[in-house]
Amino acid sequence: MFEINPLSEALGAEVVGLDLAKPLGDDVFATVHQAHLAHQVLVFRDQQLTPEQHIAFSKRFGALSGHVFDQFLLPDYPEILKVSNKKKEDGEFAGLPQAGRRWHSDLAYTATPSLGSLLYALEIPPEGGDTLFNNMYRAYEALSDDTKSRIEGLKAEFLLGSGRKFYTDAERPALTAEQLAKVPPVHHPIVRTHPETGRKALYVSQAHTVRILDMPEAESEALLAELTEHSVQPEFVYRHKWRLHDLVFWDNRCCMHIAEPPPPAYGRHMHRTTVVGDRPY
Ligand code: SIN
Repeated sequence: MFEINPLSEALGAEVVGLDLAKPLGDDVFATVHQAHLAHQVLVFRDQQLTPEQHIAFSKRFGALSGHVFDQFLLPDYPEILKVSNKKKEDGEFAGLPQAGRRWHSDLAYTATPSLGSLLYALEIPPEGGDTLFNNMYRAYEALSDDTKSRIEGLKAEFLLGSGRKFYTDAERPALTAEQLAKVPPVHHPIVRTHPETGRKALYVSQAHTVRILDMPEAESEALLAELTEHSVQPEFVYRHKWRLHDLVFWDNRCCMHIAEPPPPAYGRHMHRTTVVGDRPY
C-alpha cells in the first residue's frame, strides 16, 4: 500500500511507499493517473531509478520528447534532459544551466506542448534550489467575469528565443542557428481546456509568451503582466523543497513552474523526461 498526501492548499501531493523502479500494475497506475489529474503535481519520495526505469515510468503517460538544447541530453538516453548548475572537467555545463528561471510551462513554445514533466533529483543543495508550481485552473476560476469575457478566445505568440533577454551567454549557451530553426514562433489560446479533466486553465508563460495576437503592444504587455501576476499569487502556489531522490511529475497543461537558483557553491543535478502533449484548445 502507498499513501497520497496533499502538500498544500493550492496543489501538489506526495506519494509515499510506491517503488517506481518496478512496473506498476494497471490498478496502481490508474490510481496514480487519477491522483495526478486531481493534484496536478505529484512528488514520489525516495526513488532509486536508473535512466531506463525513469523512462519506462514516464512512457506510461505518453511518448517522450527530446529537447532543443540537445547538447544536454543524457548520452545514450535522448529522452532524458540533464538540468544542472555543475560544470564538467572540460569547463562545459553538465546539464542545461539556469533552467526555468521564469514562470513557464514546458515546451509552450512548440505546436504540441508537453503534457507533463518528470524531474528526478540526483544531487541537491543543502538549501535553496526550490521549484515553485502554480495552479492555473484556480488562477482562471478566480478571474473576474469581466476579465474572463475579455480574454475569451484570445491567442498569443509563444517563442523560446524570447528567453534570450533573461540570460547572458555565460549563464546559458545561446541556441545555435540549427536549434533556433527547430523552434519557430507558435500560437496558442491563453485560456485552454484540459483534454482529460475538461477544466479551463490560464495558459500564459512569463518565459515564452511574447504577445497577444491582434492587440496593440502596450495593451498586450499590460495584460500579460496582469495575468501572470494574478496567477502566481501565494494562494495558487506550492513551493517544493527538494529531497534527494524525489521524482516530481507536474502537469504542464494546468500549472506553471519556476526554479530558484541554488547557492553557487552547491551542486544541483537533475534528470528530466518530458511527455508530449496535445495542441492546446
Ligand atoms: C524546468 O524548468 O524544467 C527546471 C525545473 C527545475 O530545475 O526545478
